[in-house]
Amino acid sequence: MQANSPSLATAQVQINLAERSYPILIGTSLLADPLTYQHLPKAATALVVSNTTVAPLYAAQLTQALQAHYGKVVLLTLPDGEVHKDWPTLQLIFDALLENGCDRKTVLFALGGGVVGDMTGFAAASYMRGVPFVQLPTTLLAQVDSSVGGKTAINHPLGKNMIGAFYQPRQVVCDLEVLKTLPERELSAGLAEVIKYGPIADMAFLEWIETNLDALLAKEPAALAHAIQRSCEIKAWVVGQDERESGLRAILNFGHTFGHAIESGLGYGEWLHGEGVGCGMVMAAHLSQRLGRVDMAFVQRLTTLVRRAGLPVKAPVLSGTDNAGRYLDLMRIDKKSEAGEIRFVVIDGPGKAAVCAVPDALVREVIDLCCA
Ligand code: NAD
Ligand code: GLY
Repeated sequence: MQANSPSLATAQVQINLAERSYPILIGTSLLADPLTYQHLPKAATALVVSNTTVAPLYAAQLTQALQAHYGKVVLLTLPDGEVHKDWPTLQLIFDALLENGCDRKTVLFALGGGVVGDMTGFAAASYMRGVPFVQLPTTLLAQVDSSVGGKTAINHPLGKNMIGAFYQPRQVVCDLEVLKTLPERELSAGLAEVIKYGPIADMAFLEWIETNLDALLAKEPAALAHAIQRSCEIKAWVVGQDERESGLRAILNFGHTFGHAIESGLGYGEWLHGEGVGCGMVMAAHLSQRLGRVDMAFVQRLTTLVRRAGLPVKAPVLSGTDNAGRYLDLMRIDKKSEAGEIRFVVIDGPGKAAVCAVPDALVREVIDLCCA
């Protein structure tokens, strides 16, 4: 731990991006401790953005801690859900900033899961051309992935996360205590992003997850702390080399091309993001096997783990007429696509990922297999 980190953080992972570097603090009782926020930029006002589920649970303790540093602390409570990750809800953040006379020093605090984090980050990136913001992730998924690395976005009806910006937070605070209230289904969704880091970068971590999955599902603090720390370390390693996804960072999207098609094809919120990623990883593993990059034993190993984590491994049918065609159409609207050609993250041997175009016929085979 670094000398200037708050006393309650039991671990710290650093994102190294020159002047945009920042710490991820991992520990217990961090949220309510004023010391957690002592190194943040000073300002007259702090705006806490949360939602109707998380605010009643955690906003009061956060607001109280922030009052030690900011003269005025405003709470904005957004509607909850992926379906609200859109322009009208984003506008509510700008309304609150302007109505409260917020200047360009105002610090935004995103208190919630990935939806709140992505929207607050996008608002921070664009309000007065950029104000500081802090991520206070309250889901496992947000603690291991979405709060880290500076991707911010809202959805468009035609495609997920299509409108956004790269904009780094000043600090990420992963307080293990908040996971106590996280519903089981959301915990499983978060485990999808934890599992992801194994096949793309660290097979020893995959093995650790296999061994410790029951402890993770039981929310054992030591297991959760290790999973969060190792996930953040791997993400920090990737983002530190390729902040704006000109190459390597795309591997973090393993399973996401199929997953995003499922999410938007079914309608946002029907399947959770992590559920789409879990099933999408199984589909991408089959694709990797058909390309000769991993064997069937690897596909089965990953499928077993995804299923054990409480995630779907059978893909939904998105169209009664040409289901594979519908998947392909949806997947063409993907930020990795180039000139209409879909590019997939595949496993290029256990622990290593690659990005490549794949013939439609092969993708169709995988969709038919996984939807059956
Ligand atoms: P979410 O933000 O919708 O949160 C899931 C649900 O849990 C919500 O109903 C929320 O209110 C509730 N919740 C949150 N914390 C809680 C707590 N401690 N106790 C009880 N309930 C709680 O979903 P998510 O899975 O956190 O995030 C998914 C979003 O993140 C998607 O929009 C996805 O696109 C995005 N994402 C972004 C990145 C990135 O790099 N920016 C990476 C991965 C995912
Ligand atoms: N979640 C993918 C990324 O941050 O790049």
